[in-house]
Amino acid sequence: MKLLTVCLGNICRSPAAQGILEHLAQQRGVDLSVDSAGTAAYHVGKLPDARSIRTLSNAGIDITHQRARQVSPEDFHRFDWILAMDAENLANLQRIAPAGHEAKVVMFGRYRKGVDFGEVDDPYYGGEQGFEDMKQQLIKISNDFLAHLYE
Ligand code: 4NP
Repeated sequence: MKLLTVCLGNICRSPAAQGILEHLAQQRGVDLSVDSAGTAAYHVGKLPDARSIRTLSNAGIDITHQRARQVSPEDFHRFDWILAMDAENLANLQRIAPAGHEAKVVMFGRYRKGVDFGEVDDPYYGGEQGFEDMKQQLIKISNDFLAHLYE
């Protein structure tokens, strides 16, 4: 199973979601390949935001090997799932999706059981607490998404 997490810049939310999904998949012993990308090209080649690196490091998850890239039409053929962090990301993905692609393109927050989390808020212009909240939200959604895939 191949997953692509997508946000705007690919430095805050989607790298964190990638790290969390990889970590939880390893704990479950399932064979999952995860990558992340941004709809915008502002930060291509950069490390994740230092605040995302720090909050995930506190959870024992290292994301410092990741580098930002922009999502491309080929991604819709290479991945089984493309997981958007917010409604704008989803709209931008749908705009560039090639005809006849196989990937399921969805809002990631939709998989949170019982609670309608919807969007994962962009923490970029806020403080450290926003990144902590983002991490907690992504852990819950990721657990429920993996349960959806494997249970
Ligand atoms: P992300 O956060 O989409 O979660 O990576 C952002 C990062 C950078 C910008 C916006 C959002 N930016 O405008 O540069």
